[in-house]
Amino acid sequence: MGAERTPEFFSGKGIKIGIIGCGYVGLPLALRFSDVGHRVTGFDLDTSKVDKLNAGQTYIQHIPAEKIRQHVEAKHFSATTDFSKLKEMDAVLICVPTPLDARREPDMTYVENTACEISPNLQRDQLVILESTTYPGTTEELVLPILEKSGLRCPIDNGSSGKDVAGDFYLAFSPEREDPGNKNYGLAQIPKIVGGVNPASSRAAQNLYAQIVSRVVPVSSTRAAEMVKLLENIFRCVNIALVNELKLLSLRMGLDIWEVIDGAATKPFGFMPFYPGPGLGGHCIPVDPFYLSWKAREYDFATRFIELAGEINTLMPYQVIESVGEALNQREKSIKGSKILLLGVAYKKDVDDLRESPSLKLLELLTDRGAKIEYNDPYFPALQKMRHYDFSHMRSVDLTPERLASYDCVLIATDHSAYDYESIVRHARLIADTRNATRNVKGGRDKILHC
Ligand SMILES: NC(=O)c1ccc[n+]([C@@H]2O[C@H](COP(=O)([O-])OP(=O)(O)OC[C@H]3O[C@@H](n4cnc5c(N)ncnc54)[C@H](O)[C@@H]3O)[C@@H](O)[C@H]2O)c1
Repeated sequence: MGAERTPEFFSGKGIKIGIIGCGYVGLPLALRFSDVGHRVTGFDLDTSKVDKLNAGQTYIQHIPAEKIRQHVEAKHFSATTDFSKLKEMDAVLICVPTPLDARREPDMTYVENTACEISPNLQRDQLVILESTTYPGTTEELVLPILEKSGLRCPIDNGSSGKDVAGDFYLAFSPEREDPGNKNYGLAQIPKIVGGVNPASSRAAQNLYAQIVSRVVPVSSTRAAEMVKLLENIFRCVNIALVNELKLLSLRMGLDIWEVIDGAATKPFGFMPFYPGPGLGGHCIPVDPFYLSWKAREYDFATRFIELAGEINTLMPYQVIESVGEALNQREKSIKGSKILLLGVAYKKDVDDLRESPSLKLLELLTDRGAKIEYNDPYFPALQKMRHYDFSHMRSVDLTPERLASYDCVLIATDHSAYDYESIVRHARLIADTRNATRNVKGGRDKILHC
């Protein structure tokens, strides 16, 4: 195809799109592009994922195998570990992880390695878009120089001259705003923010995304687009910390914070409800803000809201354990030796995602304190070894009335919809509810501890 790929080319049909990283973000994106008739190739290092995709199977609970199978059979979608096939793509979208390293600093190795895989395969007029959440400057300071090792150029230009600077390829940043499991807002309904390294790159990316989402919102640069995503997640992180702190105060004052939040949420303007919990979880909210605090240091700037929110949110699992210990103490028991059932290990309700889940911290704290701990989660029949935790010996137990009655405490960490809270409260002796999951249960309220 070569030099024919103008920015307008990307509003056409049958575009060959490569998605690098077929995880929670990359796979739905690949299927969405397949839905509208493009030819999509998923690139991943994980051969088991690639094999499953090509066999029409799924490994993400909310993505149906049937959808994958249909696209594979129609030859709209396939997966590969062969990165030389990047050469054949018109557009390449990067959806690889951006975690924190052991020192809680940005771990850019995935993005860097991916750029290194693209560079020797980069073609004239190819469009490359970074979707991974990251600090402002990543696209221009990290990805662009690696891609330009190919000998092809993509000049940085803010468009102030009103003319297109000539580039050899297009490069843009567009953050993924997917909320896995959200039934109201799927990929197609969520507006897509786009920032290009130059105006032609921005137009190329806008044209591509306009085919799969209802609204594309251009911003002036890749750095602005990178910052938009961080602002969204920092907003959540700080507001969750705020309600977590107010929950602690409310408990001390004998107030029900959930009642207070529901009351405040009736104000039709100027208030948005956030809810407390046992700590922050998921791949984004506990991680992303620290990408900005790390970058801010380069500017001699301390991001105090982020640090304070991190401090409060980190404290929450410890606070939960203290409340459980106190409630057991009133029953002349200690955490050591008590039989405790943890309900829900996923980081939020109704998802099969364990990453950064506060439940893992709760399991660790209870184990360290000598509790006899078991768990139940319909999404996790067994636990696997994770980066920071190893509970691979644990299996989800059944929730029979006899079993529920056998625990000194049932700790609700994740409020999955599948749980029968009436039955849990009826049979358990003590319920520690970190999510107000038992709000509609009428009987047995004297057994419920909010924490
Ligand atoms: N999960 C979410 O809800 C969510 C929402 C918005 C944004 N994000 C951001 O999107 C990015 C991806 O997150 P995710 O949740 O999809 O991660 P994920 O771990 O589910 O998937 C990433 C995939 O990339 C693959 N991979 C890693 N290195 C690779 C390489 N060099 N080449 C090819 N494949 C490689 C992994 O095998 C994995 O399949 C992150 O930056 C994340 O912060 C995630």
